[in-house]
Amino acid sequence: MFVTFEGLDGSGKTTQAELLRARLEADGREVVIAREPGGTELGEELRRLVLHGGEMTPWAEALLYAAARAELVAEVVAPALARSADVILDRYLDSSVVYQGIGRGLGLDEVLELNLLAVGGLLPDRTFVLALDPALSGARVGGRPDRIERAAESFHARVAAGYERLAELHPERILVLDATLAREVLTERIHDELIPHGLRRPR
Ligand SMILES: Nc1ncnc2c1ncn2[C@@H]1O[C@H](COP(=O)(O)OP(=O)(O)O)[C@@H](O)[C@H]1O
Ligand SMILES: [Mg+2]
Repeated sequence: MFVTFEGLDGSGKTTQAELLRARLEADGREVVIAREPGGTELGEELRRLVLHGGEMTPWAEALLYAAARAELVAEVVAPALARSADVILDRYLDSSVVYQGIGRGLGLDEVLELNLLAVGGLLPDRTFVLALDPALSGARVGGRPDRIERAAESFHARVAAGYERLAELHPERILVLDATLAREVLTERIHDELIPHGLRRPR
């Protein structure tokens, strides 16, 4: 089973990815978890460039994310799925479609096409978008924002709207959840949604 989490920074992706990992492991399943960009040696170097480096053009940004993703899928995700492990990713290609395609204005279809080429067409079984008001996102992140987090408020508003649009385009794969719900409530909803994909019903 291949599951991805999406949403603005501070929406609770890492929190839910870890809670889901714990649930799956408690069920005796092997779980591979990774964050994007990153999860490989090259990917972590690209992460540093794209999140903590200098300014770059939107297409350079999109291509760096796609490069990190290509490496992660080939080195980590595909081998794990091939041995029937579960894979949980904290962001995947929907992030690029929304941040670079819609947020930066490169085009939803163009960025999706680039990324599908990069990952050999591999799509998740289920994608959870944790929907959060951009104003709350800023408050939850606090501290030291990275290069993407520092972008204008209008950029983050486009990103938030972009996730809603993507979910409407792919209702069979993408589910939008209210990120202000309690952590445990979200975990239960996510677990229930995965039952058709082979997760055991709660005892
Ligand atoms: N459902 C929730 N309700 C309230 N706060 C939450 C919830 N989920 C996560 N948080 C808190 O919000 C902050 C960001 O969560 P995190 O999982 O790191 O988000 P992300 O990975 O999407 O950036 C953390 O301080 C976390 O403890
Ligand atoms: Mg996170």
